[in-house]
Amino acid sequence: MQILAFTILFFNMIPLSTSCVPDEIGALRDLKLGLEDPSRRLASWTGDDCCSWAGVGCDNRTGHVVRLDLHTRTSNYSMKLNGAFSSSTIFLKHLQYLDVSGNDFKGSSVPPFIDSFTELSYLDLSNAGFYGTVPPQIGNISGLRHVDISGNYFSDDDNGNAGWFQALSRLSPLEFLNLADCDLSIIPQSLSNDNVFRSLSFLDLSSNSFNSSIPDWVFAITSLQHLDLSGNSFQGPIPSSVGTLGSLKFLGISSIQNIVSIPSELGNLCNLKFLDLSYSPLRTELIKLERIFSGCIRNSLEYLDFSGSELSGKLPEWIGEIKNLKSLQLFRNSIYGSVPDSIGRLSHLETLHISSNLLNGTITKSLGQLSNLLSLDLSENSLHGVLSEVHFDNLTRLDFLDLSSNSLIIEIDSDWIPPFQLEYLSLGHCKIGPSFPLWLSNQNNLTYLDLSQTDISDTMPDWFWSLTSKLNYLDLSNNQILGKLPDSLVLGDGDYVQVFLNSNKFYGGVPRVPPNVARLSLSNNSLSGQIRASISDEKSILELISFSMNKLIGTIPSSFCKLRKLHYLDVSSNHLSGELPNCWNRSSEYLQGLDFSNNNFTELHQLGNS
Ligand SMILES: *[C@@H]1O[C@H](CO)[C@@H](O)[C@H](O)[C@H]1NC(C)=O
Ligand SMILES: *[C@@H]1O[C@H](CO)[C@@H](O)[C@H](O)[C@H]1NC(C)=O
Ligand SMILES: *[C@@H]1O[C@H](CO)[C@@H](O)[C@H](O)[C@H]1NC(C)=O
Ligand SMILES: *[C@@H]1O[C@H](CO)[C@@H](O)[C@H](O)[C@H]1NC(C)=O
Ligand SMILES: *[C@@H]1O[C@H](CO)[C@@H](O)[C@H](O)[C@H]1NC(C)=O
Ligand SMILES: *[C@@H]1O[C@H](CO)[C@@H](O)[C@H](O)[C@H]1NC(C)=O
Ligand SMILES: *[C@@H]1O[C@H](CO)[C@@H](O)[C@H](O)[C@H]1NC(C)=O
Ligand SMILES: *[C@@H]1O[C@H](CO)[C@@H](O)[C@H](O)[C@H]1NC(C)=O
Ligand SMILES: *[C@@H]1O[C@H](CO)[C@@H](O)[C@H](O)[C@H]1NC(C)=O
Ligand SMILES: *[C@@H]1O[C@H](CO)[C@@H](O)[C@H](O)[C@H]1NC(C)=O
Repeated sequence: MQILAFTILFFNMIPLSTSCVPDEIGALRDLKLGLEDPSRRLASWTGDDCCSWAGVGCDNRTGHVVRLDLHTRTSNYSMKLNGAFSSSTIFLKHLQYLDVSGNDFKGSSVPPFIDSFTELSYLDLSNAGFYGTVPPQIGNISGLRHVDISGNYFSDDDNGNAGWFQALSRLSPLEFLNLADCDLSIIPQSLSNDNVFRSLSFLDLSSNSFNSSIPDWVFAITSLQHLDLSGNSFQGPIPSSVGTLGSLKFLGISSIQNIVSIPSELGNLCNLKFLDLSYSPLRTELIKLERIFSGCIRNSLEYLDFSGSELSGKLPEWIGEIKNLKSLQLFRNSIYGSVPDSIGRLSHLETLHISSNLLNGTITKSLGQLSNLLSLDLSENSLHGVLSEVHFDNLTRLDFLDLSSNSLIIEIDSDWIPPFQLEYLSLGHCKIGPSFPLWLSNQNNLTYLDLSQTDISDTMPDWFWSLTSKLNYLDLSNNQILGKLPDSLVLGDGDYVQVFLNSNKFYGGVPRVPPNVARLSLSNNSLSGQIRASISDEKSILELISFSMNKLIGTIPSSFCKLRKLHYLDVSSNHLSGELPNCWNRSSEYLQGLDFSNNNFTELHQLGNS
């Protein structure tokens, strides 16, 4: 009984000791002194109970500071701590967790005394303005599991970085190592111990300047689940030993200019979900990669990115065998042929982007089965043939559709009700007309609409102007659409709204536009009446105004002089008259072109440019 009472008393006393250890509280105060704190995040760092300070965590048994989390996740500089990393922090000997990422240590080097944090297991110094070389002492912290020093301005050391790479590679608990975007150019080709990076599951070497071949030791870390080599200048092929990394889920090999080939052993990565080869020139035919995609990778892959990889040849039927694909990115290649039937089997597909290729066949009806598709971009190809409702039948989740710049004919029944609510629709240069596409009438979530040059020669339905309230881009140009423009255009709230209604048969007056419109073309219509002063506004960001080839009368309002962003103004071929406002020489520093020709202005002699 007495022993029990003593025990309870003993454990009750412990929390009293959370007024911190003097050395540690001194270290924290010095750290604060060395840092500017514009957003006053360290305001709570007063008094003696340092364990209750923001970002500080103590062991509730010993009272020692074990955790310091001062990370900043915003690019807003005035939220960042900035200054020097105080050397008094060596007294925080019991730290297990240190995260100072996203602040600005203004070119301090990573302190070599970092190894006085002997109990550290989590270290995040990313994006924190550190310079200099990586101290090899970092490898003395034997319990490190997580090291992120990405996004700093390191340089190679005299030893070719071998010292700290060696040291880190020996740390058997190390699971996570992020060295992305560190300005490094030398990676050691060999590491001397036997069990290099024994527990590593995450290795990010991306966005450095490594220009050697990829060291063999990388492909011996069989515990790796995430490997990113992207954005370097590694020489030579990806070795076949990549096939031994059986735990890999993520493999980033993008933007490596000198990659000459990928081995068929890549197909043996039965857990790989994410493969990014974008902008690494493979210079082969896609169909020749069949060996890879007939391996078990085809059961696991969810994200495949070959955009800009210099692939040619046909889009193969076996694409449909990669049955768990959610995202297929093939844009900017030289792939020709059709979109194959097998695509309809990719029932999980959310993103299909094959724009800017040489596709010259047709689009399969099986596309209409892709009930999970969110984004479809087949623009800038030479696809032909007729698309009907069937092609869109079950695309209930679609919100991005770009079929522009092909030779497609879109023939859809006027009573069809689309199963989707699009935000982005671009059908420019497809043949849609002569009728106005009535199926648009329920698409009231659009922010981008391009129906330019689509052979529509019809009357604009009244409901159309109720669909524009979220549009930041509207292009109906080069059709024969007949209709009266509303007095005011109601548009989206973007910061660079563009409206192209030129080359149609619109009539009525020049509509008012909100001040967030940057480009407005109404030329080659039948607009009449005066140009209202209200087109411009102190806040207007109009850069381009084209009203040419209409039937406008009256004068140019002097308020146009207030359009400070104006690049280009064209009011040619109207019936405008009177004096031109004499302000164009100073109205805009950007001014590039003015066209007042074919009107009845007086005082043309004052303008060099008309
Ligand atoms: C002590 O810390 C542990 C884990 O950090 C926590 O689960 C526990 O609730 C804490 N105990 C007290 C008394 O605060
Ligand atoms: C940045 O943060 C400061 C301080 O919190 C705030 O006043 C300012 O509005 C922010 N600036 C931006 C661009 O978000
Ligand atoms: C710490 O690391 C340095 C450099 O790698 C090494 O020279 C030194 O012996 C190490 N110290 C301890 C105590 O391990
Ligand atoms: C690699 O980069 C280093 C340092 O920038 C340079 O000296 C070397 O010539 C480069 N080697 C190759 C093969 O490009
Ligand atoms: C598509 O392009 C390829 C390669 O240029 C060509 O061989 C083929 O005949 C074209 N097919 C069609 C239908 O135009
Ligand atoms: C769309 O889904 C329905 C119900 O699942 C199915 O009966 C129909 O065949 C599908 N249409 C297409 C074109 O896949
Ligand atoms: C409309 O668009 C917004 C985003 O702009 C989206 O969050 C919302 O789900 C969309 N609504 C419908 C009905 O699709
Ligand atoms: C004017 O628009 C019509 C279509 O409405 C088009 O046929 C004609 O080429 C356009 N003229 C110019 C000069 O753009
Ligand atoms: C210019 O004015 C004259 C006389 O007022 C008129 O005859 C002519 O049609 C006008 N020209 C244009 C292009 O409006
Ligand atoms: C603009 O033109 C007016 C009238 O011709 C003249 O007084 C003024 O100095 C010019 N301003 C500039 C910046 O050239």
